[in-house]
Amino acid sequence: MKELSPLFIVIALILLLVIAILYLRIRRFNLAMDKIVTFANSFLSGDFKRLSLPEDINGRVSSALNAMASDITNRISETAEERGKIDAVLKCMTDGILITDTKARVILANPAIKTLLNIKTDIIGESVIVATRVTDIHNIVMKVIETEDVVSEEIDIPLPNELCLMATAVPLHSYEVKEGISGVVLSLHDITRLKRLETIRKDFIANVSHELKTPITAIRGFAETLLIGALEDRENAMKFLKTIKSHSERLNSLIDDLLTLSKIELEVTRIEKKTVDMNEVIDVVFTTLADKAASKGLYLRRSVIQEPAMISADRDKLIQILLNLVDNGIKFTETGGVTVVMGKRDDKLMLFVEDTGVGIPKNHIERLGERFYRVDRARSRELGGTGLGLAIVKHLVKAHGWNMSIESILGSGTTVKILIL
Ligand SMILES: Nc1ncnc2c1ncn2[C@@H]1O[C@H](COP(=O)(O)OP(=O)(O)OP(=O)(O)O)[C@@H](O)[C@H]1O
Ligand SMILES: [Mg+2]
Repeated sequence: MKELSPLFIVIALILLLVIAILYLRIRRFNLAMDKIVTFANSFLSGDFKRLSLPEDINGRVSSALNAMASDITNRISETAEERGKIDAVLKCMTDGILITDTKARVILANPAIKTLLNIKTDIIGESVIVATRVTDIHNIVMKVIETEDVVSEEIDIPLPNELCLMATAVPLHSYEVKEGISGVVLSLHDITRLKRLETIRKDFIANVSHELKTPITAIRGFAETLLIGALEDRENAMKFLKTIKSHSERLNSLIDDLLTLSKIELEVTRIEKKTVDMNEVIDVVFTTLADKAASKGLYLRRSVIQEPAMISADRDKLIQILLNLVDNGIKFTETGGVTVVMGKRDDKLMLFVEDTGVGIPKNHIERLGERFYRVDRARSRELGGTGLGLAIVKHLVKAHGWNMSIESILGSGTTVKILIL
């Protein structure tokens, strides 16, 4: 065999070396690629560990990928923080918030909307009508989907919640949906209290006007009759003048009551608590109302458990409270009478005004204390009442820091309880 030339051997050795080096480099490169793929997969599954590639293979790739990874990690944690803030805001909001897609399916609902609409189940993915069971809400959401415009309406929620809500729905635009809307955001604001106050205000104005008009019309009528000749008829003239006087007294007491109420409401009336002898206060009240009770054959009694019966109160205001309550007791009782009781329950002082009168139907009790509220309007007016007494009592009791409740059995009598705190 012919001998191999040394040059050939050298070339062959160099070639072998090159192949070996290339093999090793490709192997290292493949290993690096495998590492990059594993890194990408673990990144996708939420494991944000760093990538480490041998410096000599591709230091630039690993540092670029690591920079990208750290940027994405930062953005993810920023997004999570923002989401956490939005979740917290949605959770503590008293307004109900509901987000739907363009098929009116719920994609987000905060706790308040569930409370407002009495929803007990999970509603994500449900259609708005199934989720809320309120046709008006469904119609509002559909209107926004059709018109892509803001819709705002007042809606009534039936029992058991029985609320009046201001519903506002706005179109939702998103980054991915370039044309049209991607859903609807609905907010529900509870305006039940506001509506109630508005009704009370309107009722108040109507009632004041009515209560003022009645005596004024009578005074004007009798004055005119006197002017056109009745003055000559002395006997009738006296009768008319007495009627004018009693109507003007009624007007006066109505205005006094209104002023008292507004002073308490504006907190102009100051409660100055001092040690007061309950027996002395009851004496004043009973003396003032003795004739009225006697004219109906009713008794006025007291039951005071402790002697001396001292409490901390504003004497004049306490007299005003008891005068109104005992007066009501006399007015709405035909047989029996009224008892003022001072007792103790659970170490707390209680003041009761009990009567054996007509009683109050249950459904009226909650509204007593609203200005001009009377169970039987005609009967109360006949008895000379305007329905301001209990409103004054309620405010004066509250101004003392006490609590008042009314218990009544129709046909048997009423007890007004004041808990002296
Ligand atoms: N002891 C009671 N028994 C039965 N009904 C009562 C009693 N106290 C109050 N009421 C009812 O509550 C209503 C409101 O009472 P309130 O004292 O505010 O008005 P009033 O007595 O009619 O008029 P005012 O006190 O202004 O002269 C009364 O009209 C009456 O219908
Ligand atoms: Mg009264």
